[in-house]
Formats: sequence, C-alpha cells, structure tokens
Amino acid sequence: MPKVPFGPTYNEMLHPNTIDPKIRKAALEAKDHELDPVNLFNINWRNEKNEVNKIVLPKKMTGVDANIIVLLGKYFPSGSHKVGPAYSTLIEGCVDREIIPGEHTILGPSTGNFGIGVSYICNLMKYDAIVIMPDNMSKERYDRIQRYGAKLDLTPGTESDVILTLERTYELKKNPKNRALAQFELFPNYRFHRHVTGNSAIEAVKGIGNGRIACFTSAPGSAGTLAAGDQIKQVFPEAKIAALEPYECSTLMNGGRGQHRIEGIGDKMCTLIHNILTTDFITLIKDDDSVRGLKVVHDAPHILAEYGVDLELAKCMTDLFGVSGICNIIGAIKMAKYLRLSEQDNVVTIATDGFDRYDSVITDLNRRVLETEDFVLRRWFKDIFLRADIEDIKDVRGKEAKEILFKQKENDWLKFNYPLSYLNEMKQMKFWDHEYHKIEHYDKVITEMRGKDLK
Ligand SMILES: Cc1ncc(COP(=O)(O)O)c(C=O)c1O
Repeated sequence: MPKVPFGPTYNEMLHPNTIDPKIRKAALEAKDHELDPVNLFNINWRNEKNEVNKIVLPKKMTGVDANIIVLLGKYFPSGSHKVGPAYSTLIEGCVDREIIPGEHTILGPSTGNFGIGVSYICNLMKYDAIVIMPDNMSKERYDRIQRYGAKLDLTPGTESDVILTLERTYELKKNPKNRALAQFELFPNYRFHRHVTGNSAIEAVKGIGNGRIACFTSAPGSAGTLAAGDQIKQVFPEAKIAALEPYECSTLMNGGRGQHRIEGIGDKMCTLIHNILTTDFITLIKDDDSVRGLKVVHDAPHILAEYGVDLELAKCMTDLFGVSGICNIIGAIKMAKYLRLSEQDNVVTIATDGFDRYDSVITDLNRRVLETEDFVLRRWFKDIFLRADIEDIKDVRGKEAKEILFKQKENDWLKFNYPLSYLNEMKQMKFWDHEYHKIEHYDKVITEMRGKDLK
C-alpha cells in the first residue's frame, strides 16, 4: 500500500514554530543532509529563530529614501523558493488521490528552478520525475536536476521558449502513467505564495518604516510569487503590485516577444494563475542590467563600499541574489522613485535563488564584454542602481488595460482547452479568494493523511 509522504501543511510552512517540536528540531539538524526527507519541514522563509530570511538593502546602494526589503529564497531546501510550489502541488495531488507514490511519474515543465524543486521533492517523496525544460539554460541547473535524480527532457531554445515545454508536457501527459506539476496553471502555486510568501512578507516589514507595504515587485515566470501581492493587498489595501518583465520580452506590457537573459521569468505568456485584477503596474527591466548588476554585487563589494555601503554588509550580499533577484531589486528601485515613496514606506521584493547557479552566466558576461575593470564596474553600479530611471512603467489599473491582459490570457489558454467561461470567472476577485481558502481543506486532510497508507 503506498503511503502519503510526511510533509508540512500550508500553515506549518508559514509558521514552522507550530510544527511538532521534535520534527522541527530534526528538520533543522538535517539542513546539511539535504536528501533527508525531514527537510520537507524546512520549506519555509524562516531561520531557526523563526525570523523571515530577508535583507534591508542599504540606501547607499538603492539611492532611494524608501526601505527596500528583499526576501531571500536561497535558504529554502534545493536553493530556491520554487521548491514550495513543487511540494504544494505534489502533496495536494497525493491527498486528492490523483498522484499515487510508486505508480505515477511526475512531469515538471520549467526553465530551471521549478525543475530543480520538482527533482528534489520527488527524491524526498519517492516519485520518479521528468523535468521538461529548454536546452539553453545555465549549466548549473541541469547538473542539479540530475544530481537529485530526475530525467531531463529538453526542448529547443531558452527562457522565452517555455511555451515549447508546455506543449511537450501536454504531449507527455497523454501517457496515463504521467502526472504534471503544471506550475503555470495549477493553484497550489498560487496558494503557496499567497499564504506563505505573502504573509511572510507582511511579517518581514514589522518594525521597518511605517510597518506597512507600499509596493511589492516581482518578475513573473509562473506568476506564483506575484500571488504574494494578493495577500499583501488584503492587509495593506493601499499597496501597489508591480509585475516586472524583461525589456527584451515585454509580453504583458505590449505583446512583445524576444530572447532574454533573465532566467526564470518572461515566458511569453500571461499564465493561467496570474491574477490580473491585482496587478497595478507592469515595469520593464533590461536583461543585461540584471546580469551586470549581479556581477557588480557578487564580484565587487569594494565598489559598493566606495559609494558608502558598509563593506561587511556588501560582502554579506555577494551570494544572496541571482539574476532575477537583481531584476526584482531594480524594479523595486524604479517603483520607489515612480511612486515617490518616502523613508516611511517599504517596498518588498524577492530573491528567488542565490548566486550558486549563475557562475556560468557571469563567465559568459565576461566573455561578451571583455573589459570588466573596476572603472567599468563602477559605472555599471551607478547606472544600474543609483540612476535607475522611471521609464517603461505602464499603469494597468484601468479597464482598458485589464481587458488587453484578459485577452492575452485567452490567447494563451483557450488553446489548451480551458473554457472561456472559466477564464471569465477569473475576472472576479471571489474566484481567487475561493481558490485561496481551499488551504483550510488541504491543511485538514494533509494533517489527517500524512505518513498513512493511501487507501
Ligand atoms: C530564478 C527565478 N526567478 C524568478 C522566477 C519566477 O517566479 P514565479 O514562477 O513564481 O513567477 C523563477 C521561476 O522559476 C525563477 O526560477
């Protein structure tokens, strides 16, 4: 008889201090043994003291008065917060008796981190897994997926060819043995981020500025992380939510499509789980600014120090961000300027992962630009962070702008057989609240069924 894997509820991921103390202790002790399944209980934003892992960026780096607070995803098991949606989707499928351990193979369509999360979770929860991803992502991603034991099924292209991975997933789903953790369309991704990330963000600003959140910025891949904004708006109705896109692939802004270098985001679509109603602004970020910004922060803490950032703090930051994290930070700076936020105001953003999977991206940058002496890095630091501008920000709060986004979603999803009536339901906030409140049901059944035989 297959057993339901023993893992946390949504509430335990938000408040790990409510986990049975023996299990919490065992999980914290197992952090250095990442393939110990008790690490499922480390899927949360917190450290051992239950504080949210975050950094308040130095103002000498951001050049704005507002406080920019970055939640750090690198401390999640597998090195990115994408493990949260992967686990949530798998455990919901399991307690719904749709994904049976030992019987079904898991498909993870991804551009990398979700694939790493799926591979990792399937290792811990004893499922076979196939990760479907483009064949031109950073090398570190493939290595890690294979290290955790999943098979790779590669489609041509890069980040912005993710649609091909979706089509391939639909092909593979025809085999009744396969079950897809479809991050772009399944709601556990929304539930994880609205509940766990959103409420963690709300807690992270306590004691900073006015203790509220004025703006949340996140560059959508699946748009799961963006769902944190839905919860932030419940608590701080004045909060503005900005979805960031690569300048080179501005699908939500104006239907633009193109290759870009910000891995994990800008997937040429409006995902099914993207709540258009709560997105207030779309902001474009140049891909090479994100890559160059990462190089400066990672390689040159001494340059940040020249501009007044405490050297020890600059050194602490070197490993905290990946390319999309820098994109999110630039977006936060732009929005702080655009919204004219003061030192009382807080902007929250996310670093999905850390530097550990971007060595090859920096090597590629060095090869492309040839000259990376200090005077070049100094210029990059000033131009990218301190002189971030307020160009390319579109206000999408109006009816007309919303309609364009709804149309984009129709173009992207009717072809996968979602009925128009379903997409229309998404035009009401009650649809999203209803999906969110399913957490109460899932937490109850996860508590009842985990570790038990799946009858
Ligand atoms: C590095 C990175 N940044 C950002 C994202 C976007 O997060 P989300 O899918 O929650 O929108 C992803 C998604 O895989 C990612 O891997």
